[in-house]
Amino acid sequence: MTQRLTLRRPDDWHLHLRDGAMLEGVLPETARHFARAIVMPNLVPPVVTGDDARAYRDRILAALPDGMDFTPLMTLYLTETTDPADVRAAHADGLVTAVKLYPAGATTNSASGVRDLGRVRGVLETMAEIGLPLCIHGEVTTPEVDIFDREQVFLETVLDPLRRDLPDLKVTLEHITTSHGIDYVADAPGDIAGTITTHHLMINRNHMLVGGIRPHYYCLPVAKRSTHQLALRRAATSGNPRFFLGTDSAPHVDAAKETACGCAGVFSATNTLSCLAHVFEEEDALDRLEGFASLHGPARYGLAPNTATITLEKRGTPVPVPAKIETGAGPVTVFDPGHPLHWHVIA
Ligand code: DOR
Ligand code: ZN
Repeated sequence: MTQRLTLRRPDDWHLHLRDGAMLEGVLPETARHFARAIVMPNLVPPVVTGDDARAYRDRILAALPDGMDFTPLMTLYLTETTDPADVRAAHADGLVTAVKLYPAGATTNSASGVRDLGRVRGVLETMAEIGLPLCIHGEVTTPEVDIFDREQVFLETVLDPLRRDLPDLKVTLEHITTSHGIDYVADAPGDIAGTITTHHLMINRNHMLVGGIRPHYYCLPVAKRSTHQLALRRAATSGNPRFFLGTDSAPHVDAAKETACGCAGVFSATNTLSCLAHVFEEEDALDRLEGFASLHGPARYGLAPNTATITLEKRGTPVPVPAKIETGAGPVTVFDPGHPLHWHVIA
């Protein structure tokens, strides 16, 4: 019997598209399957103002191949000099869907991020007032804190105090990698949600480090031990609407990954849906994939779900995933879960 699965067209609630030749190369990989995506603002220089976001949105739309239908949902990069009035205006114009908090130094291009949350309190108050969500890279950057503990420590020392201080602020904890993050989002009072990436559902730190170091599995937050991976899988497949897909597909050219000091980021746009169907089938939860990929995210952001659909079919032959895509910036390796995938996107 042929197994088919038809879902509302999914959205990606955390995506890196970059700019220029890289943008042109990776955008079709997302637009082929996804209707919308929240686009991360960590360009060099970052997307800080409403004007920056408008110009970046126009570059994305200009790079979209003819015939593809895709809506970028823009974000602003929160800095200690962000002007609350500019954020308010960008929201009123319908230009931005969220503001992104990168603790300074947490990850790729985060040098202009926030060192002292007290300095952005005015912006956060405005966001709470107008209902604009804050997307958070939830890791502390204090050098004494072990890299595997950075998410857990962030919850206790930054996120929880922030939410007690501003209980009306809508928060999305992005790319959750620990059971602590899952428990926090599941249980906390108030308006909180969390995104989970494709790759964190499929790999743990052993995949990255046992039998040789695999730079294409290195990302931030770094993959944790398998107990955490299992907690992520349980949450993603639970049907809890607080959890939804944010792939964090983050392209870097191979030369920047396969080097003595490689960049963080996993590029999964190309095969994410096949990967997710694989995971949800393993968890006996194929009926919950639509919620995770297509329904919970729009509900959280106050948008209608897509009306178009996408169909996957399980076949004996594996999905022909390319090892790399070629971009004008150079080759980018596609996430390899380490085993064949059998769920083909057919329409
Ligand atoms: O692995 C990551 N890559 N994590 C991030 O937070 C940023 C991203 C990037 O921009 O490459
Ligand atoms: Zn990211």
